[in-house]
Amino acid sequence: MEKILCFPEPNEKQKLFLRDTHKYVAFGGARGGGKSWAVRVKSILLCLKYPGIKIMIVRHTYPELRANHIVPMREMLSSFAVYKETAKEFHFPNGSVILFRHCQTDKDVDKYQGTEVDVLFLDEATQLSEEQYNRFKACVRGVNKFPKRIYLTCNPGGEGHGWVKRLFIDRNYNMGENAQEYSFIQSLVTDNKALLASDPDYVKQLEALPPKLRKAWLEGDWNIFEGQFFEEFADRPEHYADRRWTHVIEPFEVPSDWNIVRSFDFGYSKPFSCDWWAIDYDGRAYLILQLYGCTANPDEGVRWYPDRIFKEIRRIECEHRWLKNRRITGVADPSIWDDSRGNAVIDSADRHFVYFSKGDNRRLSGWMQCHYRLAFDENGFPMVYFFNTCRHAIRTLPLLQFSETDPEDLNTHMEDHFADSFRYFCMSRPVTPVRVQNTYELGDDPLDQRVRYAPYTYR
Ligand SMILES: Nc1ncnc2c1ncn2[C@@H]1O[C@H](COP(=O)(O)OP(=O)(O)O)[C@@H](O)[C@H]1O
Ligand SMILES: [Mg+2]
Repeated sequence: MEKILCFPEPNEKQKLFLRDTHKYVAFGGARGGGKSWAVRVKSILLCLKYPGIKIMIVRHTYPELRANHIVPMREMLSSFAVYKETAKEFHFPNGSVILFRHCQTDKDVDKYQGTEVDVLFLDEATQLSEEQYNRFKACVRGVNKFPKRIYLTCNPGGEGHGWVKRLFIDRNYNMGENAQEYSFIQSLVTDNKALLASDPDYVKQLEALPPKLRKAWLEGDWNIFEGQFFEEFADRPEHYADRRWTHVIEPFEVPSDWNIVRSFDFGYSKPFSCDWWAIDYDGRAYLILQLYGCTANPDEGVRWYPDRIFKEIRRIECEHRWLKNRRITGVADPSIWDDSRGNAVIDSADRHFVYFSKGDNRRLSGWMQCHYRLAFDENGFPMVYFFNTCRHAIRTLPLLQFSETDPEDLNTHMEDHFADSFRYFCMSRPVTPVRVQNTYELGDDPLDQRVRYAPYTYR
């Protein structure tokens, strides 16, 4: 007798996901939206449609992989495919295979380097770093007739928040990335009728979460998530003109007698950030220009070796109307004086007449200074503004998250180079915190404890 595999009816968003044939498909949004379910069903459907196809399902840890996928799929497929426990693979009679892999550390990814698959599913992709994502992506290869696709599911927040948001929400593509290959489907918990019927209290539980987490998990809001390090950072175009309650503003002509400070954070395999700040008569700082790039991973085709960086800094300072013929003081990442591995980066700076003093690298006091500068006074004016042309500053600052191991620091695995440069700048010109009415009641929530240090305004 013919065996028939039956699935419950997918919801509307799941249907979109199941039918989507873009090369990169992200299924995002709220918890409980039915994303992992869709991964299970899609992977099985592909196996049945394309005999001999090879599929890999990845999740952060093995226990999650087991609970979310292996156990329910063993149930679904009991008479349709054989599960091989040691290999962690389903083998279908038609030759199709589903591999289950977890990825908690970079070492885990090393093990999968040689694996070739046709379709990759990254469940909870926001728990993977961009580096891990790129390495998994490289497993999708091979010369055969099968489709080559990558399906991701994602929640706002987590270490991978930045790259997932860039590719699927902001759709801000680098060289070599083709916008037409990316598709995003937003699922909301309210889309999952099966869950609402079986567990009507689930939404109530999500509604009881702290506001930021609720916005992220219930509404799938990618701009707000738990653990955002610079919570107070505000980019409000509607206030660019009056400059109140916003840190980002339209550029203006910088008066010729304002002081200019250049701050610099160096990265070899990570980006460097060179930032020019203009200081007005009240000591208020404006980030007016930024040079940002990477030595190892070329951005827009340019490899930024130290000589090239400092040559370009020098050129900008000689030519740009806001900088030329001015005295510019520089402050930099103290590690560029390190010559233990050969030439110190600072020697290259010296050769190009780009001078720096050593930045104060006390991290906690540095972050406090950043917060003091960002804090709005009672009229809504901060002590630092960013010209909206400094896109890497504006892009990276709101993405940074608290470190999981050190609640007073940020997660240094993220793109923190502009933030470090900002910190060296702030430490070179410390300000006293503005006394503002704190309109937020601090509770017992550990998140609140972490932000107690800074006189934020919460509105
Ligand atoms: N179309 C569906 N029919 C029946 N149950 C579903 C369906 N979609 C999801 N579910 C169930 O709803 C619950 C939440 O779905 P899940 O895929 O785990 O959500 P997410 O991964 O988005 O958090 C699970 O118990 C799942 O089996
Ligand atoms: Mg899930």
